[in-house]
Amino acid sequence: MTEKNYTAVLRGTAFHTPVWGEAEVLEDCLFAVDAKGEVAAVYHPHDAEYGDVLRRYEKTDIYRALAPGQYLLPGFVDLHIHAPQWTNMGKALHVPLATWLQEYTFPLERKLAEATTAREVYREIVTTTLAHGTTTAVYFGSQDTAGTLLLAEICAALGQRGACGKVVMDNPEECPPYYRDADSAAALRATREFIEAVRAIGNSCPQGAWPVITPRFVPSCTDATLAGLGELAAEYGVPIQTHIAESDWEAGYAYERFGKSDAEVLDMFGLLTKKSVVAHGTQLRDEDAALLAERGSTVAHCPLSNAFFGNGVYPVRRRFAQGVRAGLGTDVSGGYSPSLYDNIRQAVVVSRMLEDGVDARRPAAERGVPESRIDYRHALYMATTAGGEALGSKLGLFRPVYAFDAQLIDTRVPHSDIHIYSGDTPEDVLQKILFLANRANLTALWVQGREVLHGTGGRHE
Ligand code: GUN
Ligand code: FE
Repeated sequence: MTEKNYTAVLRGTAFHTPVWGEAEVLEDCLFAVDAKGEVAAVYHPHDAEYGDVLRRYEKTDIYRALAPGQYLLPGFVDLHIHAPQWTNMGKALHVPLATWLQEYTFPLERKLAEATTAREVYREIVTTTLAHGTTTAVYFGSQDTAGTLLLAEICAALGQRGACGKVVMDNPEECPPYYRDADSAAALRATREFIEAVRAIGNSCPQGAWPVITPRFVPSCTDATLAGLGELAAEYGVPIQTHIAESDWEAGYAYERFGKSDAEVLDMFGLLTKKSVVAHGTQLRDEDAALLAERGSTVAHCPLSNAFFGNGVYPVRRRFAQGVRAGLGTDVSGGYSPSLYDNIRQAVVVSRMLEDGVDARRPAAERGVPESRIDYRHALYMATTAGGEALGSKLGLFRPVYAFDAQLIDTRVPHSDIHIYSGDTPEDVLQKILFLANRANLTALWVQGREVLHGTGGRHE
């Protein structure tokens, strides 16, 4: 056979979701990785070359065969997570969004302008999310540019693909004096500098690091700043992230200030593009969703956070049917967990509750919203394939030219909650993994072909 120059060859069974609602089992395949860290080839046992490739590599030190009970999943893409909120994770979820922001979150985020604090906190969040299988994360940093650059550097150094944004918030009506951009010109200048600096960081690591234009949300920003950020997005062609129609209060705010919906306001300022990731959207109207579909923007569905702040369930299946793409986000610390597994579970559970309804005093036929349920396959698709598409990148699938970003799940480790029995099919195994995996089960993680975690429980290199 011809020389292939692979840098790694793994043999085992993997799962992925090329299509919304469908899972594919890649049983006992050979996954070949190249020097760019991309999947070079996937050989199935029935392929003519399978035996040749196996013989060529199985005695080499770049070959690894998974043990019985071990499986590969694509690395997860967390489309919405706030790095400076890390130390509040699990706290302050008993108050409404506006109070949570003013009384808990802004005072906390301000502290991340201090470099020692930022370094410590950001190392912790990147290390922990890696240990939960997040190979790519779309981060809100803080309002502080230097601190947020540290976040991008730490992602680059620890091996996570970080898409990071310096948070823009300059509206004196909604942002406290101790935590806001001095004025619109300062906010736009800082964003421009940030974009250039993160691009340089991205060029220095194999997995890349991407700048994201980040108006916190409509209430936080003046008109001049929203307009200026839209222009920067057009100039640089970089992704945009923000919050959209997250709660009754937030959705109502846009009508009061502009007489338009949140989605219409963002669109008016050029902030709804096919590279926009808009978090939540529980309060989007059908016509707003149609606008998102037309623009090709992606919703970051954050089902844990929405239970506390969303005043509703994002109807992910109905929106997909309308053409609105969605991935998954943890929304730490509006969501209490750094794990996309927890959000996969919550996404499935809340979709069932939306379909059936929750008030048993009402007749069954009127209780819920028909055709709302999703299952494990839709949820995995959102956590992987859809996240990659949102970023316009080949992520989330075991296919040639996709980045080799993978989780090794070992179902047989001590403290495993996953119990596999002889009658279980590969599809059953996938369901058990998605509903029951804990951090102990994730025993190796690759980003762009490089192994970045070793050992049970996500011990970092
Ligand atoms: N809206 C504006 N800022 C935030 C934030 O930090 N978290 C959430 N969940 N919503 C927001
Ligand atoms: Fe958020």
